[in-house]
Amino acid sequence: MQATTPHLIVIFGASGDLTRRKLIPALFNLKRQALLPDNFAVLGVGRTPMDDESFRDDMKAAIASFSNISKAGDKAIIESFISLLHYASIDTFDADSYSILKDKIVDLDKKFKLEDNIIFYLATPPILYDKIPVFLAKQKLNRESHKLIIEKPFGINLESARNLNKDLLKYYSEDQIYRIDHYLGKETVQNILVTRFSNQIFEPLWNRNYIHHVEITSAESIGVEKRGGYYDNSGALRDMVQNHLLQLVGLVAMEPPILADSTNIRNETLKVFKALRHISMDKIRRDVIRGQYLDATINRTKVSAYRNEEGVRPDSKTETFAAMKFYIDNWRWSGVPFYIRTGKRLPIRVSEVVIHFKETPHHLFCNDSGEPNASNQLVIRIQPDEGLLMKFGMKVPGAGFTVQNVNMDFHYSSLSEKEIPEAYERLLLDCMLNDSTLYARGDAVETTWEFINPILELWKNEPEIPLYGYPSGTWGPDVADSLIEEPWLTWRYPCKNLSNDGIYCEL
Ligand code: BG6
Repeated sequence: MQATTPHLIVIFGASGDLTRRKLIPALFNLKRQALLPDNFAVLGVGRTPMDDESFRDDMKAAIASFSNISKAGDKAIIESFISLLHYASIDTFDADSYSILKDKIVDLDKKFKLEDNIIFYLATPPILYDKIPVFLAKQKLNRESHKLIIEKPFGINLESARNLNKDLLKYYSEDQIYRIDHYLGKETVQNILVTRFSNQIFEPLWNRNYIHHVEITSAESIGVEKRGGYYDNSGALRDMVQNHLLQLVGLVAMEPPILADSTNIRNETLKVFKALRHISMDKIRRDVIRGQYLDATINRTKVSAYRNEEGVRPDSKTETFAAMKFYIDNWRWSGVPFYIRTGKRLPIRVSEVVIHFKETPHHLFCNDSGEPNASNQLVIRIQPDEGLLMKFGMKVPGAGFTVQNVNMDFHYSSLSEKEIPEAYERLLLDCMLNDSTLYARGDAVETTWEFINPILELWKNEPEIPLYGYPSGTWGPDVADSLIEEPWLTWRYPCKNLSNDGIYCEL
């Protein structure tokens, strides 16, 4: 779906990592697929002094490193895309500099016939989130045709998130504000909606009558890399749970919307966030586990402990792993535990949602110890090897009724030749199309903070609450296993079984 309305995208933080790694490659990929509007330009803004030419050279290198440019004919497309890039060097902290920016915008608007449709993308440190909008508004750059995209973090706790929303709403309406949660831009995350609401076979079972528990994992094998400074003030709960993982919970647990539009879908996920049962202090101590990675040798390479990472305090109590159990207090989910976990330096990079179905009401086919042999799971593999896996019991051929769990496994890679688009491609395109369905709404952000805030508060006020060390390359602290009460159940430990064609396969 091509964006046809002319657009100028103004990227604050243009010399930063996000612009190089994600934004410019995503825009280039849109160009390659002829999805950008015919009238289009990009204006990078930053404090680093640079002219258009050097910015273009830099971005050309970024495209070479971070997008797939092997296809024939890309050279011409790169040149034509690069010619759309411009740069303005201003002091982003200084209100007066914004008149220079405005002049540049007016010039580009005229030259490219952009009809005053502007997206301001704040890919900057959050300290600028409440400043740039004020300075833009002063230059009257907050008219109806102007939109604002903001990267997370949206606040560092409930109070700051509320203040940020309040500040933004002084200058831009909620319809003009697009809060990026890049998980929502992932193809497989959107597919949760399609799986649930375009098939008749899942939805009738999608409730407390048939589902035993829901498990969501987002594991990363990397550590904090060069982001120690940011991460040490954040931690896994703020960095992953308050936003990405709870947004996944919203999509898994929501009621069917009346229409698949941004208002209806986001109204339904909001209802889920409102129904999250706040975890009491006692239960936080028991049902929320935090951990931090220790050093280890992985594949004969020594990796350092979190506390030895650049930018991290040597006595840091920041969690690099979080796991928790909670409930959603509504008709559909009453009594169904939700387990979520995320961590850095875990064995592999994998994000998935696992729906664990209940046992059959009567066990006809049991193993020698009288347990049912089959357990039904639906695994929504978000990344990598995007796909859907259904586990169910089948009879082993031969005498008797021995049941074996088997897999019905769908891989996106076998669906079509088409590459799975990067989250940022979809999100940037949607913003040009004025579609905010896959962006986090202000009220949802505040509601998820309401759920997370008491945990952060308790951890701050009771530093003696354990922070478990776990060796890098393991699945986090063992104690996280005890969250799942039934002794015969554990987290799913997806393993990296690479088949010949390089896709993950289940044993
Ligand atoms: C970001 C977090 O929002 O998501 C990072 O700040 C994390 O710490 C990243 O690494 C994970 O995203 P993905 O798409 O690689 O799962």
